[in-house]
Amino acid sequence: MLKNPAIEVIPTGQACGANIHGIDLSQPLDDPTFEKILAAFAKYGILVFHEQNMLPQQQIEFSKRFGEIDIYVLSEYTLDRYPEILLISNVQKNGKNIGLADAGTTWHTDTSYLKRPPLATFLYAKEVPIKDGVVLGDTIFSSAAAAYDKLNEAMKIKIEGLTAIHSYHGKHTARANLGRSNRIKPSQEENRALQPVEHPVVRRHPISGRKAIYVAAGECVSIPGLETEDALALIEELAAQITKEEFHYHHHWQEGDFVIWDNCQLQHLAVRDYELPLRRIMHRTQVKGPIPI
Ligand code: OGA
Ligand code: MN
Repeated sequence: MLKNPAIEVIPTGQACGANIHGIDLSQPLDDPTFEKILAAFAKYGILVFHEQNMLPQQQIEFSKRFGEIDIYVLSEYTLDRYPEILLISNVQKNGKNIGLADAGTTWHTDTSYLKRPPLATFLYAKEVPIKDGVVLGDTIFSSAAAAYDKLNEAMKIKIEGLTAIHSYHGKHTARANLGRSNRIKPSQEENRALQPVEHPVVRRHPISGRKAIYVAAGECVSIPGLETEDALALIEELAAQITKEEFHYHHHWQEGDFVIWDNCQLQHLAVRDYELPLRRIMHRTQVKGPIPI
């Protein structure tokens, strides 16, 4: 057990995110240290820990401190013996993807098509694609909370109290139309867990209470009470607001990076600028959040 390690929280200097130094996440943490990490998580939205060396079980144990582990719906892509860990990877074995090769290829917040979408996602870089000495496959994050703050008052009033319908199939149809999806189709049983759900367009953060826009283009297919055309135009407009560069933190991965992000206040995009034989292997865990309010 690590007792009161001298951790340092260093903001990225961009619109969101902080680096955390001085901690080995493979070790169990004492409660005061975990509380510091949780407070930094709620404040900055993304925490980056460099040079970590974690076994799958250690990643699972650390993730569990934040809540109940959410097991990914497509069991085909989870790690052998560790269903809690989802492989994000372009690597193939016997002609098949070993993990999700299309994760995050459009702007989104993770699995918002669930009734209880995740509070946090944890991504651990096991192998990163390197070309001519440069690591490819960056992830770009954007603060949907800062984006909400900067909306004009008329828009804040217009969207207050609205809800949107989030759909797994909406998201992946939109990705496929852009040529950015190549995953297997969910089985009938998996499809039962993938019914569209309704969430508020503006949600309050479960820890800080801060408001954030909670819609994603493609994934959000309608807004009850609005004509489809008006709803889709509003979703596009809000998505464009969230993804403005002024709200970004750009993460350039190194092997051993362990990154946690807050799905209640951020969106993110995977930059898919590498192909085999360049390999990328990431281990992902995610924990359930509350029903958005
Ligand atoms: C994810 C995701 C981004 C990346 O795993 O949810 O969006 O860069 N990943 O792999
Ligand atoms: Mn994602």
